[in-house]
Amino acid sequence: MTGKTVVMDHPLIAHKISYIRQESVGTKEFREVIGEIAQLMCYEATRDLKTQEVKIKTPIAEMTGKVLAGKKLAIVPILRAGLGMVDGMLSMIPTAKVGHIGLYRDPETLEPVEYYCKLPADCGEREVFVVDPMLATGGSSVAAIRMLKDKGVKHIRFLCILAAPEGVKRMQEEHPDVDIYIGALDEKLNDHGYIVPGLGDAGDRIFGTK
Ligand code: PRP
Ligand code: URA
Repeated sequence: MTGKTVVMDHPLIAHKISYIRQESVGTKEFREVIGEIAQLMCYEATRDLKTQEVKIKTPIAEMTGKVLAGKKLAIVPILRAGLGMVDGMLSMIPTAKVGHIGLYRDPETLEPVEYYCKLPADCGEREVFVVDPMLATGGSSVAAIRMLKDKGVKHIRFLCILAAPEGVKRMQEEHPDVDIYIGALDEKLNDHGYIVPGLGDAGDRIFGTK
């Protein structure tokens, strides 16, 4: 199965991403708008979920409606910055379970360092949405998805708000089965592995650290 790569083409998403890119935007607003973007991206990334028909009774008449069918869902943020996307995702899919993968990028080597992994016990049966605002070199998302696959997860979608072409290529090479949803595709990485033009350090901007 070959995954698809989707760059969001939506005026609201574009507007909100342009807003948070600005260095003048403070922590409170940055965090709120990251949540709103995650909500909109979740809407797009769930477009092809399976539905089934059910008979329902409105106050007026009986009818056949549609409800979600198929696999149950899970959201897995890559700590820390991925946490900023969880509430927005949950506002759209409130019954999803939430797992956590802790990874940070070593500032010298840019290699991901694992420090936490806690997943729903039945994650292998679920459709898993991995979320992280930033796909830069791809080291973190590639490692997180490898950890999920090692735990038996077979159906994975990855959502990021900004991506660099280098990271997208690496993800497509290493996890060709995973669908990738991108809020905006930027130009390149700089010498420190930051996305250009980007928005800076997403974790620091969400949590007000530096
Ligand atoms: C950031 C970001 C991604 C990673 C992307 O996390 O949230 O997880 O870098 O870079 P990569 O594609 O080159 O791996 P960071 O390591 O800064 O940790 P944090 O979320 O705890 O701030
Ligand atoms: N992580 C971030 O938070 N920002 C970048 O530009 C790259 C990695």
